[in-house]
Amino acid sequence: MAVPAEMKAEDSMLNRKYQDFLRWVVYQIYPRSFMDSNGDGIGDLNGIIEKLDYIRQLGINAVWLCPCYQSPNDDNGYDISDYENIMTEFGTMKDMERLISELHKRDMKLIMDLVPNHTSTAHRWFRESRKGKDNPYSDFYYWYDEIPNDWKSAFCGSAWEYDHIRGQYYLHSFAVSQADLNWENPAVVRAMQDVVDFWIGKGVDGFRVDVIDMISKDFNKGHNGFGPRLHEFIRDLFDRDNARYLFTVGESGVQDIDEMIRHCAAERNELSTLFLFDHMECGRKDKFTPKPDTLKSLRNILIRWQQETDKHDLLYTLFYDNHDQSPMISRIANDREYRYESATAMAAMLYLLKGIPFIYQGQEIGMTASHYNSIDCFDDVESINTYREFCREMSAEEALEKINFGSRDNARHPMPWNDQPQGGFTAGEPWMPLYSRYHEINVDKDLASERSVYRFYQRLLSLRADQRTLLYGSVKVLSSENDPFFIYTRTLDNDTWIVACNFESTQRINLPFDCEAPALSNMNRNGMAGEYAPYECAVAHVRKTE
Ligand code: NOJ
Repeated sequence: MAVPAEMKAEDSMLNRKYQDFLRWVVYQIYPRSFMDSNGDGIGDLNGIIEKLDYIRQLGINAVWLCPCYQSPNDDNGYDISDYENIMTEFGTMKDMERLISELHKRDMKLIMDLVPNHTSTAHRWFRESRKGKDNPYSDFYYWYDEIPNDWKSAFCGSAWEYDHIRGQYYLHSFAVSQADLNWENPAVVRAMQDVVDFWIGKGVDGFRVDVIDMISKDFNKGHNGFGPRLHEFIRDLFDRDNARYLFTVGESGVQDIDEMIRHCAAERNELSTLFLFDHMECGRKDKFTPKPDTLKSLRNILIRWQQETDKHDLLYTLFYDNHDQSPMISRIANDREYRYESATAMAAMLYLLKGIPFIYQGQEIGMTASHYNSIDCFDDVESINTYREFCREMSAEEALEKINFGSRDNARHPMPWNDQPQGGFTAGEPWMPLYSRYHEINVDKDLASERSVYRFYQRLLSLRADQRTLLYGSVKVLSSENDPFFIYTRTLDNDTWIVACNFESTQRINLPFDCEAPALSNMNRNGMAGEYAPYECAVAHVRKTE
């Protein structure tokens, strides 16, 4: 990354760190569903340790762990009852320390999920707070005698709940048992700094920060987020000597580049980067309603953010999937007859752009959306509440189809390791039904296949790691907005690489460069130019002219 002219000498350290971050390739793990080591049907930390070599060999050098703190699991760990203890089903603090050391031994980083906006109502702070107004924790949450506004919970219904013990209403932007913390209270800021420091003390390398935009509210304007003290609070967390050089990625509803600059410009000492969600709308009208769409719309959104972030020296996050989304491949490409081609072309299209790759568990074997025949198969609080609402307006069958399309459980079922009973995930009864296509799509089968998505990812990530141009080079888009394919180059000094990804129909692609033989291709192409089959992709070095 070029050092912006206005940067001060003392900031150059941070800027060098930004360069390092471009080398990170992050694998996101949903611990509950990744690997169960003790047969209780629930994934755990020792299960993750067993699979670290599988992850490392893919070309990963950082892991983002979804919350693994003590929690009643109403929102699977995003309802934390103790930030400084490990969820009993996942293991112990000793296991966590071993995980950190096993990661570090392999030169891998750990990114913890930090949830600063809310705690579980089972958290000690809330249990104290609800006791009454003269309690030291009284103002840790938002309490009102009357419901002050019409804010809605993200998981349906009002965001306000009456608490009989305290005799007042409290705010919960998510499930009823996830009470929003009141960041206007300096004691809350200090408590959350302590949480960050506790985990820094354990040796973590960064944080993914849950709904960061919501920690400052604007009651006057009626906005449950992006309040006037947001940036001050972010700096309270991370603009401190021990935290400033961590990797921090905020989950946020930021929608324009100026907002992103305010969060992530190096000299502001707030966050390293953000997850931006515009492209999540590809292939759907809303979370539960499909929309016919193609890779074209995805490409156009990616390009826009890529260019904007590059222009302003900001780090960009490259991701398709996470634990809140059904897999992108099923919404926007062909997850049946062209599944291998779609998964690999989508990987080349995204992960050779400039930014930090985030790969969600299962994506590396081309995992698709799942399908269940009954609402009883679902566990996710959002899916179950939404299903109930849908059933007021439509038949139960229609409601179930919509849930199948958009449910977060599409990303939360046990990881399919093989086609054996329980998909190799557990020796016991899995906590939720297996992925519906696990006989056909699983790790063992993918690794044994001639057309392995994992091995394509492996080759892609190794090429990216070896070529400075693919890490730091500037991006230039050669295809136009309406082309049924995507072609871009990466250039650093005199060195250029070209990436060509065809979409759903056969196309002839001509290139303005003389290229070497493809270094990466999902169909063993010999030359870069010529006819491309549906979802064919290829990557090559441009031959240097003397
Ligand atoms: C965003 C997380 O990604 C999601 O899983 C969670 O339910 C909400 N924030 C509330 O913490």
